[in-house]
Amino acid sequence: MAAEPTAAERAVITGTIPASEQVEVVGRVILGGHDARRQRHLLLPALAAVQSEIGWVSPGALNEICRRLLVPPAEAYGVATFYALISMEERPPLVAHVCDDIACRQAGGNEILSSLGDRPDVITSPCLGQCDRRPSVLMQRAGQDDFVITSADMAGVVAALGGGEAPTPPSYVQGNRLLRRVGQVDPGSLKEYRHHNGYQALARAIEMGPASVIDEVKKSGLKGRGGAAFPTGIKWEAVAREPTPRFIVCNADESEPGTFKDRVLMEGDPFALLESITIAGYATGSSRGYIYIRGEYPLAFHRLQTAISACRKAGLLGDDILGSGFEFDIEIRRGQGAYICGEETALFNSIEGFRGEPRQKPPFPVQAGLFGRPTAINNVETLVNVPMIVLEGGASFAATGTSESTGTRLFCLSGDLARPGVYEVESGATLREVLDLAGGVEGQLTAILLGGAAGSFVGPEHLDLRLTFEDARGAGVSLGSGVIMAFNSTRDMKDLVRRVARFFRDESCGQCVPCRVGTARVEEAVARADGSIETGLIDEIDRAMKDASICGLGHTAASVVRSAIGLGVLGESR
Ligand SMILES: Cc1cc2nc3c(=O)[nH]c(=O)nc-3n(C[C@H](O)[C@H](O)[C@H](O)COP(=O)(O)O)c2cc1C
Ligand code: SF4
Ligand code: FES
Repeated sequence: MAAEPTAAERAVITGTIPASEQVEVVGRVILGGHDARRQRHLLLPALAAVQSEIGWVSPGALNEICRRLLVPPAEAYGVATFYALISMEERPPLVAHVCDDIACRQAGGNEILSSLGDRPDVITSPCLGQCDRRPSVLMQRAGQDDFVITSADMAGVVAALGGGEAPTPPSYVQGNRLLRRVGQVDPGSLKEYRHHNGYQALARAIEMGPASVIDEVKKSGLKGRGGAAFPTGIKWEAVAREPTPRFIVCNADESEPGTFKDRVLMEGDPFALLESITIAGYATGSSRGYIYIRGEYPLAFHRLQTAISACRKAGLLGDDILGSGFEFDIEIRRGQGAYICGEETALFNSIEGFRGEPRQKPPFPVQAGLFGRPTAINNVETLVNVPMIVLEGGASFAATGTSESTGTRLFCLSGDLARPGVYEVESGATLREVLDLAGGVEGQLTAILLGGAAGSFVGPEHLDLRLTFEDARGAGVSLGSGVIMAFNSTRDMKDLVRRVARFFRDESCGQCVPCRVGTARVEEAVARADGSIETGLIDEIDRAMKDASICGLGHTAASVVRSAIGLGVLGESR
């Protein structure tokens, strides 16, 4: 370990790792053992802090982190190189991550990239969760906060680059239950949140007791909004039966291309998420909550951080919440650019300081999740339903929507639509009705991407599909994370399908051979398609990935391509 950290790097690392967790190793190398395991969870925050402050992680900084945390350098290197937002090579202090994913690439993203040319400070990025305000760019700045540029402020950037005009569509947020406070309250004010009924549900939950809260959530029929549609009450009940300590984790990784609803909730109503997590913690008897938020959401991160501080000061987090003796706190962990970390077990590994690789299941998270402890993990939107369920009762909540798909759903509308944005509708609305809310399709509709990159394309014949779990299942499609992206007849569908295939090739963690090799072969087959496509080969790869992959990424990686073949947009089958 020859490389030494600079003074600035050492200062960042010292400030990031709490003194109580720092182990000085002088004159001998101790790697492993209890101390190392205790501190390993600080590895990603320490790497991220150096990246954020200095702009890259030098060998000296990596060595210093390893020395402080007792992590073998080869392992720390393996972790650092797993994440797109962490660089092990020196970079310019300002780096632009330009989205060239499906919503942005045909609406300015590719033009921005070609006008900038091949430069060390320009990196192409998968979806940044800003599809309603396409095109978008994440600016990563050494020593300062990162920020996002969207179409709203893109005109100046494009002009500065010597390009033409950039489109500036506004983004819409519409809904009167989950979204009722978004845009109506100051997201930085706890007082305003309380004025709009905030924290009444937590007080009510504490009066009811943990078992009754779980009962109401079960009665509500609430199912997970993160993609798998698992019943939330059953998950919580299973965790509450396990020995303590237990954890609650909020999955705010939201990296599925086309998805941005969780960002809108976190930016617009951060206290609602904190209250929801606290109720979940109370019901499951958890001592601590974690929010794992994607690194590309700097504004949502800052708003949540501010909200957590305000809640601690007001006794809404801490060792005696609302004077009830309930002890609970919430910590935020930032992802660093890896789609796979949204998979629940990969997310646990990421927090624990390992590569974000999914684990074999069983054991399931309810028995052995974060740090090997019983864990309830839920999506942001799922959780934000909970205060309503507590206040109005599970049965009343279940009266909204359909019997199998209760409540409302947030849909992320983007692509060739007049009014892209997040729309909340009662479960059971049809695809046509939701598209109409967003002003309808601009031009002649060719295809709609339903459910994101892990979902599938559907054609105009599906416009009367009711957007419920049961109707989607019946039609052989998935609502996934609520993506509805429309494409008109001017779009180059093969280019879009190839971008989705490249996404999976890039994001596969590489653990399982069928997924690692299969995602690459599918992308090559789409690239080769020239009036006809090797359907048999793609079906065979899809079967192998479905049969022998550890996680959902491999199971769904070929779905979009297969659905595009079904729509005939890749040519004849051969
Ligand atoms: C590849 C992959 C990526 C995922 N990404 C996310 C994500 O970004 N956000 C999310 O809530 N769930 C994501 N999930 C689903 C989670 O594994 C998990 O099912 C979910 O967080 C559970 O919460 P819910 O029951 O509230 O939906 C992903 C799953 C897979 C296989
Ligand atoms: S299926 Fe793919 S992403 Fe999932 S664990 Fe296997 S290699 Fe990794
Ligand atoms: S932000 Fe570019 S595709 Fe979503």
